[in-house]
Amino acid sequence: MDRHAGLDVPDPAPGEFLSRGYQGAVYLRGAGADRRVIKQAMGGRIARVVRSAMLRREFAAYERVGGLPGIPRCFGLQPDGSLALEFVAGEPYRENSSALKDRDRFFQQFKERILALHALGVAHADLKRRGNLLISPEGAPILLDFGSAVIRNPDGSFWNRFLFRQACRMDLNAWVKLKYRRRYDLLSPEDQQHYRPTALEDAARVVRRAWRKVTVRHVRKAWRLRRQARRDQPR
Ligand SMILES: Nc1ncnc2c1ncn2[C@@H]1O[C@H](COP(=O)(O)OP(=O)(O)O)[C@@H](O)[C@H]1O
Ligand SMILES: [Mg+2]
Repeated sequence: MDRHAGLDVPDPAPGEFLSRGYQGAVYLRGAGADRRVIKQAMGGRIARVVRSAMLRREFAAYERVGGLPGIPRCFGLQPDGSLALEFVAGEPYRENSSALKDRDRFFQQFKERILALHALGVAHADLKRRGNLLISPEGAPILLDFGSAVIRNPDGSFWNRFLFRQACRMDLNAWVKLKYRRRYDLLSPEDQQHYRPTALEDAARVVRRAWRKVTVRHVRKAWRLRRQARRDQPR
């Protein structure tokens, strides 16, 4: 893949704003078949350095898996460090998952896509975030955002192989979480084999629970539930 292909004429206008996330800002540029998603590192100096590194990692992941179905085409890193991707016309999974016509098929394809990535040496590592998933017009999954991907090196160190294995587990755990909507008690025996929380995920869960306990959100929720219960009480 040509590192700087796709946008031969640099467009000084950032384009239509799409979203702001971990890696900076996402813009839409161009029209029709030339429509591109531009991911640009933003923020202060340190944030920009980190985000630019994530964009380079994302580019490396796309280089490895380019051509797989369900993944946008990548047009490379631009001279300013931004990343250009094919715009995929999909619906955000977050808001549309309940309207999926064939949920089983969606999750079967989703798993196949994850396993195809792993076979090429790329683990996504951020699939729990529903914003990284779109639903195509045909109802198939589109995987986005490879900024946290773990890429297996052919002559990788012990550490690289370890991280890759952990990230592969995280991908399948995310698949289980989304498929069963956290109802882990409903897992089929076949899917049970895919759910193996890593030590990192276990630790994150403990922190998350503790955090919920100490935050105002937790207090507010309890207060709201109490108020609702009082309202529902027979008079
Ligand atoms: N190739 C794409 N096609 C269509 N929409 C996209 C594409 N890439 C990103 N988006 C939209 O932009 C949002 C943020 O993109 P993402 O790659 O997840 O960036 P971030 O690293 O900031 O989370 C996504 O949730 C999606 O709505
Ligand atoms: Mg994202």
